[in-house]
Amino acid sequence: MTQNLYVHGYSEREKERLEDQANALTEILHHDTGYPPGTRILEAGCGVGAQTVTLAAKSPGAQIVSVDISKESLAAAQTKIIQAGFTNVEFQHANIFDLPFEPESFDHLFLCFVLEHLPNPDEALESLKMMIKPGGTITVIEGDHGSAYFHPQDSYAAQCIQCLVYLQAQIGGDSLIGRCLYPLLNEAGFHDISVSPRMVYVDGSKKELIESFTKNTFTAMVEGVKKQAMEQGLMDSRAWDKGIRALYRSAEPDGVFCYTFFKAIGVKK
Ligand SMILES: C[S@@+](CC[C@H](N)C(=O)[O-])C[C@H]1O[C@@H](n2cnc3c(N)ncnc32)[C@H](O)[C@@H]1O
Repeated sequence: MTQNLYVHGYSEREKERLEDQANALTEILHHDTGYPPGTRILEAGCGVGAQTVTLAAKSPGAQIVSVDISKESLAAAQTKIIQAGFTNVEFQHANIFDLPFEPESFDHLFLCFVLEHLPNPDEALESLKMMIKPGGTITVIEGDHGSAYFHPQDSYAAQCIQCLVYLQAQIGGDSLIGRCLYPLLNEAGFHDISVSPRMVYVDGSKKELIESFTKNTFTAMVEGVKKQAMEQGLMDSRAWDKGIRALYRSAEPDGVFCYTFFKAIGVKK
């Protein structure tokens, strides 16, 4: 995947969005993340390091190698890790499809929100699997935009989300990939696969999630493709703005927003 094929782009706002997303979701996605001391972990597609800080904090005795295809994102990730004072992470510029490591040189592998952007997630898993020692695990976390529902219900908002799904598919991604993690890992030959849905439920009592998830993660992500949606005539501007207003409306005290992520773990035999 080249950098311009990443539907959300690499802007400052997207950087902040990825960080908001990670902060909002740390407990939901990572309450059970952690690797034993002495193990070597490969994080593929670390981006700006939003998950890397949690990996480093939750596995203080493990050595983490985080790679990404974007040098700019890697630099931001490195700054973040240094500022947080972690010394158990090294960064490397690398492509998942051409990894510069010896086969079976990692105990475990972790990737989050990466497969959804790749036209060939099966080939990515094949390449990544080669890096894991027998008995080691892969952990994959992905969202699924088909899992988004909200109150008050709104057909314009649903259309805006559909635009994002369509635009991501157009460049070879799959924003509905969360539901496919079991078959994907199974097809890639992983064993003992377990998938757990991680629902983010946000109502008026969850003020922090209203800001960090409903507004700054999900709605910001949908808003981010307005230009592309308009350019392709997928919706008219008025209908789009109504849809985005409806998503923000679900973040009001009497609104509700729900979204489900999927976390899959498989073992390489
Ligand atoms: C949505 S971001 C997720 C970043 C991070 N994992 C997180 O959860 O915040 C996807 C990242 O995958 C990276 N990526 C996409 N294709 C890649 C490839 N072939 N090799 C390495 N990194 C890749 C992108 O550059 C981007 O930083």
